[in-house]
Amino acid sequence: MSQDTLYIPPKPHSLAALPALFRVLWNGDGNLLDLLPAAAYRFPVGNLGYSRRSTVLFNDPALVRHIMRDPDGIFPKSDLMVNALEHLIGESIFVTDGQKWRRQRAMIDPAFSHMRISHAFAAMQAAVNDYVRILEASAESGEPLSLDRAMSQLTADIICRTVFSTSLDSQVAFDVFEDFMVFERSVAQVDIKRLIFEPAWTKAPQPQIVLDACTRIRRHLASLIDTHLAPDAEFNDIASAVIAARDSDSGEPFSRDELIDQLGVFFLAGHETTASVLTWLFFICAQQPSLVAKMRREIDSVVAVDAAAGKKKKQEPLTFEHMRQLPLLKAVFREALRLYPPITFMPRVALEDTTVGPRKLPKGALVMISPWTLHRHRDYWDDPHAFKPERFLPDNEASLVDGAYIPFGQGPHTCVGAGFAQTESLLIIAELLRRFDFEALNPGRVRPAARLTTRPREQIFCRVTRRVQS
Ligand code: HEM
Repeated sequence: MSQDTLYIPPKPHSLAALPALFRVLWNGDGNLLDLLPAAAYRFPVGNLGYSRRSTVLFNDPALVRHIMRDPDGIFPKSDLMVNALEHLIGESIFVTDGQKWRRQRAMIDPAFSHMRISHAFAAMQAAVNDYVRILEASAESGEPLSLDRAMSQLTADIICRTVFSTSLDSQVAFDVFEDFMVFERSVAQVDIKRLIFEPAWTKAPQPQIVLDACTRIRRHLASLIDTHLAPDAEFNDIASAVIAARDSDSGEPFSRDELIDQLGVFFLAGHETTASVLTWLFFICAQQPSLVAKMRREIDSVVAVDAAAGKKKKQEPLTFEHMRQLPLLKAVFREALRLYPPITFMPRVALEDTTVGPRKLPKGALVMISPWTLHRHRDYWDDPHAFKPERFLPDNEASLVDGAYIPFGQGPHTCVGAGFAQTESLLIIAELLRRFDFEALNPGRVRPAARLTTRPREQIFCRVTRRVQS
């Protein structure tokens, strides 16, 4: 592919609102991207397809900011999302609001400070090194590998090591991972049938398979937490930081049940999201050899700085400081997050009748903020569906539209793990790309779907080979 040709990676085929509704019902796979009408990539505010409940999608950055900041406390996270997650992480920071959320957030923020991330870097590096050995075996055997599963396994291993100081090799950590895969496959962030046919706040039971997976996950998490609560426990990880946190008013720590909720959310929000964007990023890199060549030059040049100091030139481990010296890799990561934001939708619910910008919202309206549509909106991006990482290079950043890029959310609920996610992602991209070539086996069939996170509708299989050094 010539460098000048615009590369447009997989996107849904947009329809008018009514055919889009029939499509989503016909497919029956809960993919909310299929419900998006073509106009959703053009309008500032509009209806998200047809539904019994008023469902309004906001794309205007100023209005999005207002809703996400929510100064009057009338747009909490939506009942549909809370329902999907309550059995797993019911009282966690991801789903709570108001005073309860404020207390939790204040106690959790320090666990993700810059210092903590720099401390966690060694555990990230160890997980990536172990994964390199798995990929070497895969390259040796020539067996195709599921990119989705590979990225989930690697990011889950990183979460286990950094949060609990245990690797995915331990039985309990592996059981958590397997059960999260069941949960991810079976639950949607927004139940589309309920969205279309039911009024607000209708409760619907989750399928038994989801409930069973949640029970098992909570049991596994409890046993991981108990190792940390033992009187002679000595850990220096994210779990120990959260266990040590105290409420600034009462001086009380989190209870054991609260810890299960909070640490469960780190596992869920902390590996599924990163795995989602990295799956897309490696798929894209597999189609873009000239881009990969540039990225490798950048990685090699960073390690070559050490060569000047007398160290070995190639395959030297990358350090935490190196992560700040990779502007192209960072731009590629940010562009992958633009086109495939892992959290496709951030649904809120209007607690009372209100007006936002030009729109009156009745009590119970579903207020949709979608990084997906905002990031591909034709008013804010040139060639909105094209993969152009140069948009995010430092020289071009000034031309980005304020508020049109929100992969980590916005306002008080902004992702606590954004710095952690960027660090681990840059490390994974650098360490894997400088060693391996990825070839996607079914690129023409890949389509995105919005489930718990933005995922390929079917798994992407790749062949991995060792990089041929030029
Ligand atoms: C590329 C990776 C990630 C992306 C794109 C991402 C995205 C997001 C977004 C959009 C939100 C806001 C949701 C909303 O307002 O409805 C959020 C919240 C959150 N994320 Fe992340 N996240 C990522 C990685 C992580 C990691 C690694 C962790 C922890 C280990 C984490 C933990 C959380 C938590 C606890 C919240 C809830 C914050 C609150 O409500 O106060 N995330 N994330």
